[in-house]
Amino acid sequence: MTKVPKIAVIGSNMIDLVTNIQRMPNEGETLEAPSFDLGFGGKGANQAVAAAKLGAEVVMVTKVGDDMFGRGVKENFAAFGIDTTYVEAVPGVTNGVAPIFVDEDGSNRILIVKGANNHLLPEDVDKAQDKVLGSDFILLQLEVPLETVYRAIEFGVENNIPVILNPAPAQALDFERVKQVSVFVPNEVELQMITGMPTSTLEEVQQAGEKLLHEGMKTVLVTLGSKGAMLLQEGLCRVFPAVKVATKDTTGAGDAFIGSFAYYYALTGDIEQAVETANHYAALSTLNTGTQKAFYSREDFERERAASTKEG
Ligand code: RIB
Repeated sequence: MTKVPKIAVIGSNMIDLVTNIQRMPNEGETLEAPSFDLGFGGKGANQAVAAAKLGAEVVMVTKVGDDMFGRGVKENFAAFGIDTTYVEAVPGVTNGVAPIFVDEDGSNRILIVKGANNHLLPEDVDKAQDKVLGSDFILLQLEVPLETVYRAIEFGVENNIPVILNPAPAQALDFERVKQVSVFVPNEVELQMITGMPTSTLEEVQQAGEKLLHEGMKTVLVTLGSKGAMLLQEGLCRVFPAVKVATKDTTGAGDAFIGSFAYYYALTGDIEQAVETANHYAALSTLNTGTQKAFYSREDFERERAASTKEG
């Protein structure tokens, strides 16, 4: 029987307010933009949905608003078969939202208003233990209070559950508390902010990644957008070139990468194969607009991947 990966995401959810723009308005200027879309987002939720769409058993631990956005977010998780036992509404607080501006070349600028996400507390990690224990991975990001992230790392260590930490959006971290994670997945901007080292070239990314290894991190996996991804472990530095596609919208591609990486790593136990597959999954997610709705099911992904490999 095929293994069904079990993933626990302890993190954020947002409602994405996506405006496609030709350019940002100047100060004092009113400018018409071509289109707008509303979508389910948030880094934690996106990673959970990517893993669930591929077939993982996913439990989401998050806080939603006491409003129509919060109710919609919970229903959306349930529609993907995600366990919502610990998707809890915070009385009197609004849901997290993310105004997003997508340029014609598919690049994006994102603001986040955390709302209810600020109310996910360290004790919520322990409260959800009946659902989190036995997971193959715990996935974490930084859109909820840092103390909650630290407690979730400790919980993973105490219970022998490997933790994947995506330090996004970047902020100052207590390195002693985060170095225990199994896989640390920054993008090159986050890596630069966390190490204080330049990350403009692959050599610089390697040096910054190696600094984290020397300081005690076990595995550093850097997402590099159009340059692909770099995997660093003691004695290993491998670059996985990006898969070239006709990109429409890169929003959530990093989340597609992490959710699919966790799924395939849990499924196969082979980290290099999982990175290669996640690279492909993330690239295909940029073919459509939006975040979660642009993610593929396992069946669609494997069909598209096979087709693009044949063409290429
Ligand atoms: O990574 C993309 C996500 O970042 C968006 O869905 C937005 O909600 C922000 O959290």
